[in-house]
Amino acid sequence: MNALCHERRRGVFITLEGPDGSGKSTQVRLLADRLRKCGIEPLITREPGGTRTGEQIREILQHDRTGEALVPEAETFLFLAARAQLVQTIIRPALQEGRWVVSDRFMDSTVAYQGYGRGLGAEIIERMNAWAVGDAIPDLTILLDLEPTEGLARIGPRNRANGCEADRLEREALAFHERIREGYLALAARYPKRICLLDARNGLDGISQRIWTLVEERFGYGLG
Ligand code: TYD
Repeated sequence: MNALCHERRRGVFITLEGPDGSGKSTQVRLLADRLRKCGIEPLITREPGGTRTGEQIREILQHDRTGEALVPEAETFLFLAARAQLVQTIIRPALQEGRWVVSDRFMDSTVAYQGYGRGLGAEIIERMNAWAVGDAIPDLTILLDLEPTEGLARIGPRNRANGCEADRLEREALAFHERIREGYLALAARYPKRICLLDARNGLDGISQRIWTLVEERFGYGLG
């Protein structure tokens, strides 16, 4: 077949990033399908999650059963705890075996969501990330960029049951997602070699093709 880097000693680590509603998860699936067609069985993972501990942490983060709102710092430590577990038990061993790893979200999400969205600041989050991931830095990050208004529309209308309250929540949600986008764009400017920005408004197939072209350019020596 082709030689999508079977001979590399370290595997290839690709992450997909973007706001909720940007279509990342679909693109992770399409990329995995394409890799399989080339004879490569990628390890697919997602954040938060990807390990048993990580999935439990995901539960705490997403289905708050305590009725207690998590403070941003606690939320950040939970994302970082899930990430450290995922890197040490799954991602790093897979890369050391030469495997391809594709992750639906990774370290950039925390900079965008907690650093910018929650206002904790990028610098502290980048330091925490460095501590949690060590050398497991993605080789390529695809950032699907989308206007917050469009992303929010795609993930469905919020509960409008009680008018003013819903309006306020929507405005807050919009401002939060605008900060997240600002964070992602700042990351793309800061790490232009690693992070490739793609317009999430291009159709599924267009984006999938663009991602594949990037993968071929970067890692597909001799791929026909
Ligand atoms: P998920 O259902 O996986 O959403 P998506 O399909 O958009 O990825 O939920 C993950 C949510 O967690 C998403 O809103 C982004 C957020 N998140 C952070 O706030 N910080 C992080 O470090 C990560 C990994 C995710």
